[in-house]
Amino acid sequence: MQKNSLIKLLVSGLILITASSSAQYRTGLIDDDIAVFYPEDFDPEENLPSFALVEEPEMQGELPSDWDMTVAFSEAFGKSMAEVKIPVNTDLYATGEQTGNLVRNGTTRRMWNTDNFTYARDNGIRLYQSHPWVLGINEDGSAFGVLADNTWQMELSLGKEILFSSAGPAYRVFVIKGRSPQDVMHKLAGLIGTIEMPPLWSLGYQQCRWSYFPDTRVKEIADTFRLKQIPCDVIWMDIHYMDAYKIFTFSPERFPNPQETNSYLHNKGFKSVWMIDPGVAKQEGYSVYDSGTEKDVWVKTKDNKDYVGDVWPGPCVFPDFTQGKVQQWWSALYKDYMATGIDGVWNDMNEPAVFNGPDWTMPVDNVHKGDENLPEDVHLRYHNVYGMMMVKASREGIEAANPEKRPFILTRSNFIGGQRYAATWTGDNAARWDHLKMSIPMSINLGLSGQPFNGPDIGGFAENATPELWGHWIAVGAFYPFSRAHTEVSTRSQEPWAFGPEVEDAARTAIERRYRLLPYLYTLFHQASENGMPVMRPVFFADPADKNLRNEQQAFMLGSDLLIVPKWADHPKLPGGIWKTISLVGEDSETDIYQPDVKLRGGAILPLGQVVQSTAYFSNDSVTLYVCPDDNMTATGRLYSDTGDGYGYRKGEFACDVFEASASVPGMLTVNITRQKGDMKFKKRLFRVGVITDHGMVYSDWSRKNSIDVKIN
Ligand code: NOJ
Repeated sequence: MQKNSLIKLLVSGLILITASSSAQYRTGLIDDDIAVFYPEDFDPEENLPSFALVEEPEMQGELPSDWDMTVAFSEAFGKSMAEVKIPVNTDLYATGEQTGNLVRNGTTRRMWNTDNFTYARDNGIRLYQSHPWVLGINEDGSAFGVLADNTWQMELSLGKEILFSSAGPAYRVFVIKGRSPQDVMHKLAGLIGTIEMPPLWSLGYQQCRWSYFPDTRVKEIADTFRLKQIPCDVIWMDIHYMDAYKIFTFSPERFPNPQETNSYLHNKGFKSVWMIDPGVAKQEGYSVYDSGTEKDVWVKTKDNKDYVGDVWPGPCVFPDFTQGKVQQWWSALYKDYMATGIDGVWNDMNEPAVFNGPDWTMPVDNVHKGDENLPEDVHLRYHNVYGMMMVKASREGIEAANPEKRPFILTRSNFIGGQRYAATWTGDNAARWDHLKMSIPMSINLGLSGQPFNGPDIGGFAENATPELWGHWIAVGAFYPFSRAHTEVSTRSQEPWAFGPEVEDAARTAIERRYRLLPYLYTLFHQASENGMPVMRPVFFADPADKNLRNEQQAFMLGSDLLIVPKWADHPKLPGGIWKTISLVGEDSETDIYQPDVKLRGGAILPLGQVVQSTAYFSNDSVTLYVCPDDNMTATGRLYSDTGDGYGYRKGEFACDVFEASASVPGMLTVNITRQKGDMKFKKRLFRVGVITDHGMVYSDWSRKNSIDVKIN
């Protein structure tokens, strides 16, 4: 690590370094409320290009003299530190994928992507992804965020100050200020980007296990969903589909004809997602190994030999995604693979996990060669972004293979900003009550770290779920942004019908609730793709100034209009104001033993669809609007619609409809429907209004009009 000229002060073993004064990389404002702080010895070669940011920020001006949240850089014991003084009594959140409580004060995280079965390794303080980002809420509800733009192995301590301590060279830190946490999230999205609009099918319920095989078993699972009328969009193929765990191959015995399997699924309204890991079996005669070797794509040891480590197929080599030529080679592998009719790809084990490697990964002194865009450096620098680089290259390959379709990729490993390429799940949890409960703060904090499209393995991956646990998990799991049941190789069957009729009914109701909510959910994903707002949100988003709500981690919000209160929530802290319990598919959450209470905010209009068995049969042609009037008998809502796949929406083939309710005549509520944006045409467009009143729901008839009246008493 080379150092520029420094002003150094030696204070009891600690070297304090003043902020940078070099012309281009100097501390200042990059936007009204976003400051960047550079250490004096900032070396662009060792830091840039940024993985977190969508583009290099432009300096807008000097740091105002009254800017109070400054960053102090220092070095101690071989670590590069950045310390941010924070106001007293602030509550801290985000820090990415993490175990433990929603509020992160007093905790330490290790930023080192780790295959962490049941979150047991290192007490779960490092998991599969790294997000060196903290969201802070001040006493009055105003907020700030701190982002360390650094990929190296790092520790993050949240005490009276925020302290990043990195094994790499000095790095820059961004500090965002905002009126509210929502405002900070918007500004973060400006820096790190947002998700792309996902295909609608990826919002449906999804069924997975390690693994469904052979192909006849896959078909049987799919058929059972349709037979039992439990909605489901996706069946997942885990590693047993491959020929001896060789990626981009199909087992001739288990999946002799993947095209046929995919067509079978498609004909029944299912999509398929298949797994691809980064480890390539080191076997001459295997085309992926041979072509990669010919192009010299593998990560090297410090002695410049191909690094070899064990994963599922035995000895494997690993693509070095820091090189453009390797990304292109990897992307191209998807062409024939996707041509079998595969709809989505699951990139797993990409921390990367290496069974016989030090600390379950590759040696930190392994070498990534880079190219003219990315400097050559050691694995210690690129480890945390290995998965991110992989999914970026996967995404490009999948896009090139199917240019008319929106890609869907699920990744286990990632880095802040990686939501631009893939959705995620929270790895290998366990079928335990504490893991069900912890999944909520985990999912919320991932959303607060820029990754809205996430969820845990419903039912728990390791161990056997009891019927009771699975019933409760699916009841809540129907509301995760990413809703997929998954389980380990040796566990019992964990399909919705595997636990007896009571749980089967509970699962059907839960999943039907999700499908009914799809118009709203899709609108939330659209919002996330535009401005970075999480889909699943902490309850305190309803009123950031209400200190009482700051610890709530059992109940959560979907968007700004729905509160989800799990059955097992013990004295949840809920926001003030009007919140009315609604029934989505005829369930009564007061008496139901599994289904969470779903509450609609006073002043909100919620668009609901029909229950369908798959999004293949979904349309926004007939939409029910649930109206929960506020004290002034007004309410508003919105609905985003498009074709659910492809890119027509970028050319205007979408509809953004706005709903406004008011009581112009006593005893009558009128809902006006206005097309705000978009040219999408509907074959027919019917709306029906349901108003929540003191004496129950009151409905209008289905109507084609843009103004619908409902008698409310
Ligand atoms: C590890 C993943 O976390 C898990 O979801 C998957 O089932 C196994 N790898 C097997 O591929």
